[in-house]
Amino acid sequence: TPPLKLILGTLSALALAQGAAASDLRERAQELFAPLPSTIPALNDNVITEDKIDLGKALFFDPRMSASGVFSCNSCHNLATGGDDNMETSIGHAWQKGPRNSPTVLNAVFNEAQFWDGRAADLAEQAKGPVQAGVEMANTPENVVATLMSMPQYIDWFTASFPEEENPVSFDNFAKAIEAYEATLITPSPFDAFLNGDDAALSDGQKAGLQLFIDKGCSSCHNGINLGGNGYYPFGLIEKPGADVLPPDDRGRFAVTETADDSYVFRAAPLRNIDQTAPYFHSGKVWDLKVAVQIMGTSQLGEEINDAEADQIVAFLGALTGKMPEVTYPVLPAETLLTPRPTG
Ligand code: HEM
Ligand code: HEM
Repeated sequence: TPPLKLILGTLSALALAQGAAASDLRERAQELFAPLPSTIPALNDNVITEDKIDLGKALFFDPRMSASGVFSCNSCHNLATGGDDNMETSIGHAWQKGPRNSPTVLNAVFNEAQFWDGRAADLAEQAKGPVQAGVEMANTPENVVATLMSMPQYIDWFTASFPEEENPVSFDNFAKAIEAYEATLITPSPFDAFLNGDDAALSDGQKAGLQLFIDKGCSSCHNGINLGGNGYYPFGLIEKPGADVLPPDDRGRFAVTETADDSYVFRAAPLRNIDQTAPYFHSGKVWDLKVAVQIMGTSQLGEEINDAEADQIVAFLGALTGKMPEVTYPVLPAETLLTPRPTG
């Protein structure tokens, strides 16, 4: 048997080598990705205050913002289930099935554009969409403002949140308050701890998965803070997935830009908390994350990703699941006789 000193020497050399490997991997990762900031990010033209966050939270949970009084933002972006609804495509007003899968609101503030096709520039612009969409909340800005004005408590909250304004209760401010609340919905994960210097934050399998994620080329589209959410690519860059996964009638950014080149172009999906938000893709047709990873291999990279590799990549994606924001269910202002009645 080799002398104890030699064994210990070998072991510490091994540990050193592993440490060096981890810091090489970290350096590569730091060039491609970025950790979540430790504080709430600043917003464009929207100062964040405690009052505004609380108001935005109330609005996010208030089903009376929909025409029927049934749907709140939280119906489709449920903060108890990863900030989405876990359905293929969402159910909205009058039990209608919408055209796309609901993306998570968690960390959405770091996406450079909102929606699967990036058609909204920021969360404040975004929040005005679902309220008015016929298949979602089917309401009008005027009716939202009338609803808010009918409850004195809301008037007080808007006044405290927008103290300089003459008419604080407006549809624009409704959207700004929600944006401020959404900016607090961020989920620091083991991957952030790794990027920030903690070797032990990822298991060996997760590190191998991260290495594959980079080497295979996933990170050429899924990079930055949210590992996606910042660029557009054809879904089916190399090979179109079947019509079951990529329904032919939804041509993505084509509907936004009306240029043929944008046919079937979608935003590279952000991947934080991805193991909490099945089913996958804008169609919501794929329930197994491993299958989604393998589809990405053939459709975007022209490469078969084998089972063992896909397992490692899925293990790495698990390290993107972070600490969920703690949410206390808000108590909302009571409606009055002036509150518009639910319709539809
Ligand atoms: C997209 C927030 C209400 C279903 C989004 C996104 C955000 C958001 C931030 C973009 C996320 C991303 O691109 O990564 C809100 C807010 C709501 C609300 C603040 C309340 C005012 C709803 C409701 C439904 C719904 C009630 C379901 C009936 C969806 C769907 C998308 C989406 C399907 C993707 C649409 C597309 O890409 O074309 N929402 N949402 N949302 N939301 Fe909502
Ligand atoms: C969507 C992972 C490579 C562009 C997705 C989704 C996953 C994923 C899990 C589904 C997200 C969700 O449903 O919320 C991966 C992995 C890759 C990879 C593990 C490497 C093996 C790529 C590459 C590109 C790309 C190289 C760009 C050429 C996209 C796009 C979507 C997407 C555009 C949205 C598709 C849709 O409209 O449904 N990716 N991806 N991905 N990825 Fe990738």
